[in-house]
Amino acid sequence: MSEQEKQPALQIQNVTKTFGKKTAVDNVSFDIYPGEVFGFLGPNGAGKTTIIKMVMGFFRPDNGTIIINGFNRKTHYEAAMASIGGIVENPEMYNSLSARLNLQMYARLHEGVTKERIDEVLELVGLTDRADEPVKKYSLGMKQRIGLAQALLHRPKVLILDEPTNGLDPAGIHLLRDILTQCAHEEGVAVMVSSHLLSEIQVMCDRIGIINHGKLLQICSIDDFVNQAQSSTVYRIKTSDPAKAKEILSEKYNNRIFNVNEDTLDIEIEEEQINECVRTLVASGSDILGVQKLESSLEEAFLEITGGGVHVE
Ligand SMILES: Nc1ncnc2c1ncn2[C@@H]1O[C@H](COP(=O)(O)OP(=O)(O)OP(=O)(O)O)[C@@H](O)[C@H]1O
Ligand SMILES: [Mg+2]
Repeated sequence: MSEQEKQPALQIQNVTKTFGKKTAVDNVSFDIYPGEVFGFLGPNGAGKTTIIKMVMGFFRPDNGTIIINGFNRKTHYEAAMASIGGIVENPEMYNSLSARLNLQMYARLHEGVTKERIDEVLELVGLTDRADEPVKKYSLGMKQRIGLAQALLHRPKVLILDEPTNGLDPAGIHLLRDILTQCAHEEGVAVMVSSHLLSEIQVMCDRIGIINHGKLLQICSIDDFVNQAQSSTVYRIKTSDPAKAKEILSEKYNNRIFNVNEDTLDIEIEEEQINECVRTLVASGSDILGVQKLESSLEEAFLEITGGGVHVE
């Protein structure tokens, strides 16, 4: 069965949230499916935490609907909340107790969490060998993993983690990726993680939603995003008269010519078009002193979509 044929595990429909005059989340809609790791990507202040807090029940949307595992958050709050697990801020834990004891105490909050399930989540997050040590002896990465174990105890259908890679080194990020992939692909959990770093989202996720200024700008698979970012390329053409070259090229490539300097201009075209572009210039009497392909990274594509990245309030 393809992703799209399954019932979504989380549905966000036309959700809006304002704080005073500030619209933190502006008419956002998207679905997340069982078995996928969805990355919620946006710069600081984009609205990621606000959406996550609404889904996790910390506060209500002003408008719109949130459905978790088929339960409307508004009309079936308890069933909706029972279907979700997550970490928004640092998980509370008793530092002098072992990870296993912490999980046993936390398990009392939920019905039907067995000793076997505790062993299972400890295994899933790779802490079985250290489970009987007090949490205060844990590294930051291990503390985050025990938080993850806690969030997974009651077998949630949706797992939500706000910026889970904060403070993790590259090895920690890969380990987290493996754990989340296992949750999604093997246990069928719908996983949503947020981050402001595309490189981290790219490592962990199957699909991304890009948000800025409270608006969802794009939603696509990581593969489509990579292809899209790579399909158009910026070339820097060196010529003795860039203004004239611009005139010649603008008939066909209007809006795609920029940075016209003393002896260069930049043009954003598809790779197949560069030959024709150079031929047009030569045929019209322009001299070509050089053509350079400028590397554009995925990170730049992301910054372009979000309008330059850092959002100044
Ligand atoms: N409780 C609040 N009261 C007032 N304004 C808020 C509140 N929470 C968030 N905001 C505002 O809403 C906007 C979105 O904030 P949010 O925390 O959701 O962004 P974010 O994408 O999580 O950013 P970051 O990457 O920095 O964590 C910001 O302008 C923020 O200042
Ligand atoms: Mg945030």
